[in-house]
Amino acid sequence: MKSNLIQHLFTTRKLSKQDIENLFDLAKKIENNPKDYSEVCKGRILGNLFFEPSTRTRLSFESAMLRLGGKILGFTSSRDSSATKGESIADTIRMVNHYADIAVVRHYMEGVGEIAKQVSTIPIISGGTGTQEHPTQALLDLYTLKKEFDNIDDLNIGFLGDLKYGRTIPSLLYSLIKYDNIKINLISPKTLRIRGNVENRLNNAKSDYLVTENLHEVLETLDALYVTRIQKERFLDPIDYERLKNSYKITPETLQDVKDHFIILHPLPRVDEIHYDVDKLKYSRYFEQAKNGVWIRMALILKLLGVE
Ligand code: NCD
Repeated sequence: MKSNLIQHLFTTRKLSKQDIENLFDLAKKIENNPKDYSEVCKGRILGNLFFEPSTRTRLSFESAMLRLGGKILGFTSSRDSSATKGESIADTIRMVNHYADIAVVRHYMEGVGEIAKQVSTIPIISGGTGTQEHPTQALLDLYTLKKEFDNIDDLNIGFLGDLKYGRTIPSLLYSLIKYDNIKINLISPKTLRIRGNVENRLNNAKSDYLVTENLHEVLETLDALYVTRIQKERFLDPIDYERLKNSYKITPETLQDVKDHFIILHPLPRVDEIHYDVDKLKYSRYFEQAKNGVWIRMALILKLLGVE
């Protein structure tokens, strides 16, 4: 990716299918032979700037850098940083430029990418910013699909849950539409429908997509269902969350008539939208998906640092 002059990663929109496939090739090489990569980042430091809570993204970035032989530093909430004293994100990024060689930022604000572009001379990766993008999650989601089906082209994929506030969804849609003959099914309550700006991009790309509230209208046709939690922390009115939180729940019964090769993905954390009994069915891939995050993030660190 370095070769394409992508210094930071805040959106999947600017990645080409070739960029994505190159990243997957490297992730696969790392996954097959992790020992070959265990010292390639010796002497390098990854900074984790997490202004919002995280389990998988932060820990898998840490694991990725440690498995590459590098070191890590950072903070895990805005409370632990000078943001509480009023420091701007721009100043925090400027400082970390002196302390790390590459950094990950998770933030509630949109627009951190623009700030990074202006002030950072080290690569900055979004670990989820605002409600609009979570590019590394999308890449690991896509990598999981690739491993499962070999070819991403021609897949029929459902997106279920909070399509309005779930930031992994736009990033995944923007990368999926680079592939051929993808069918997209957007399943959500009316009030949590995909945003207009995301739908415009689907239209501009002439994507084949359907919007519905009814999971059973499409479930039997799907190769994969991407389930998301209702994003409680984004609701202005808690009553709205209470009304919508149980909109969908996947149980073994829900899945009686799915295709044999069907799989369920979820960026996690799960709340109530997938019953624990589904975990042991042959369809669940969400824990494997989280594991794939380490390979993808290792590959991404190498690409952005220009180490190969
Ligand atoms: C996601 C996020 O932070 O947007 N979490 C993650 O990184 N896997 C999804 C979520 O919080 O629902």
